[in-house]
Parts: sequence; structure tokens; C-alpha cells
Amino acid sequence: MPIRTIVAPSDLRTQIREWRLNRKTVGFVPTMGALHAGHISLVEAAKAKCDHVVVSIFVNPLQFGPKEDFATYPRMLQADIDKLEAVHGVDVVFAPIAADMYPEGFQTTVSNQAIAGILCGRSRPGHFDGVLTVVSKLFNLVQADYAFFGKKDYQQLKLISNMVRDLCFPIEVHGIDTMRERDGLAMSSRNLRLSEDERRIAPKLYAALSSIATKAKAGEVRPEILKELFTRELSEEKSFRLDYIDIRGQERLEAFGEAIDKPAVALVAAHLGQVRLIDNLEFTLS
Ligand code: PAJ
Repeated sequence: MPIRTIVAPSDLRTQIREWRLNRKTVGFVPTMGALHAGHISLVEAAKAKCDHVVVSIFVNPLQFGPKEDFATYPRMLQADIDKLEAVHGVDVVFAPIAADMYPEGFQTTVSNQAIAGILCGRSRPGHFDGVLTVVSKLFNLVQADYAFFGKKDYQQLKLISNMVRDLCFPIEVHGIDTMRERDGLAMSSRNLRLSEDERRIAPKLYAALSSIATKAKAGEVRPEILKELFTRELSEEKSFRLDYIDIRGQERLEAFGEAIDKPAVALVAAHLGQVRLIDNLEFTLS
């Protein structure tokens, strides 16, 4: 079966209703397009678990700040659909238009007061409320049983899992490991905008994250020291501008005191030229 591209929310509802009447399970992968192998790994996870798979492609204006890259974010719908055709087993691409997602008079949003303001939320005020709002709208439209998100956007995954718990969405969220290029760089739609030089330097981010995990396992468990060592290592490449490096608990993104004493995740955001890169690495001490 070829993929069906649906633009109108009412057409999507009709399709979903038919599947649900037939007692089929629905898996959902929300994206902003410019698909790469990382997105495809989420699609594969959805295919493995569900009878039907819906992928949404929508560059959500609400999650971009006024100085961010909404206008230049890569848009390539037909190429994305071709990529999904090649995967086999995606039933629907849902590609709504902004006027349907944000009709005139739109005034209701979802926000998180606890962890939306830390890490990426500090330098991107309002970003995560924009994400939570669009994801809750998409959840209501798609009515899926399972949704798949990447650990690449670790804070986003936590925020969405917490939203599902807090607001009783009837959906199960699955977190999927980060897909990387052979040199370690986390796949991202924004990598397309790195110059050749920047692309060569970019894997340093993951290399420096990996050294945090290695040093922690070797006995250096003081987060402040690990962060300092990270900053020093990254500064060997002058082109990086570090936004943050942090080490937090995997479960609740809680800060550690003097020592890491729980399963941890090191999270980083840094600018390289015009591009803001994020990455993270989970580690345990034992
Ligand atoms: P987007 O950046 O397109 O990412 C869509 C999904 O793909 C997210 O769950 C993201 O974590 C996952 N992903 C991205 N790179 C990945 C990689 N290298 N390995 C594994 N998964 C990866 O995240 C968004 O869109 C938006 O914020 C969205 C949730 C769609 C709301 O607008």
C-alpha cells in the first residue's frame, strides 16, 4: 500500500476511526520533517509494535523563538514522503497546514513549570511550551496507542512523558536511542547547515560527552569537576560556543549535589557557526 498523505484533520480522524473500529493499534511518530536515519529508527520501532503507523510532518511555529530558524528550517515534504515509502509499513503521513493547527482565535496552551525552564529552556524561553502544545494537539488528532520520541531530545522526551502522566493522555510514550553518524555526531536535520569545516569539528561534542562518562566510571564523580573538564576539552576547538553542559539524574533531570549517586545523563548544547547542536549521553557508575 502506498503512503496516504493527509492534510485535513477531519480526513485523519475518519482514517483513525476506521482503524480503531477494527481494533487495530496505532503508532505515532511526530516530526518536523527533513527526515534522516534517526527519524527512521523511530518509525521502525513504531512498525514493530503497532498495526498502523502515522508520521506527522509539521514545522511548528509555536516552538521557535523570534530570533530562531523557523524561516530557514529545512522543508522537503516530497523527499520525506519518498524516504518513508522506502521504509515500507508507514500508512499515513499527516502534514497539516498552520491555519488548521492554529486557527484564528487560538488561545490555549500547555505549559510545564518545573523543568521547561532549565537546560535548553533557559536559552529558548517558551520553546518547550510550544512543543507540549503542538504534541498534545497532535495526540488528540492522531489518537494513537503508542508514540515514539528520540532520546536525542532528552529534555523534550521527559517533558512529554510527564505531560502524558500529568494530563492523563491515553497513550504510551517510548524513548528511542540516539542514532549517530559513524564519527559519533548525533543525526539532526540541522546538521545539513554545517559547513564542511564545522561538520569535521562537530563530532567533538560527542567525544567530550563520552569522556565525561569514562571519567565518571573511573571514579571522578564530582559533577562540577566533570563539567569543567568537558569545557576544557571542548574549548580545544575554538569554533564551539558552549551554551550549557550539565549532568543530571536520568529519571527527573534533578541536579546532583557534591557527587553523582544515581543513573545520570550528561547534556550539552553548543553553537557551531550558525547551528545550535544538542546531544546527551546516559551513564551509570557501576
Ligand atoms: P524533530 O526534530 O523532527 O524530531 C522528531 C523526533 O525524532 C524527535 O522525537 C527526536 O528526538 C527524534 N530524533 C531526532 N534526531 C534523532 C536521532 N539522531 N536519533 C533518534 N531520534 C532522533 O522533535 C521534534 O521534531 C519536534 O519538537 C516535535 C516533537 C515534532 C514537535 O514539534
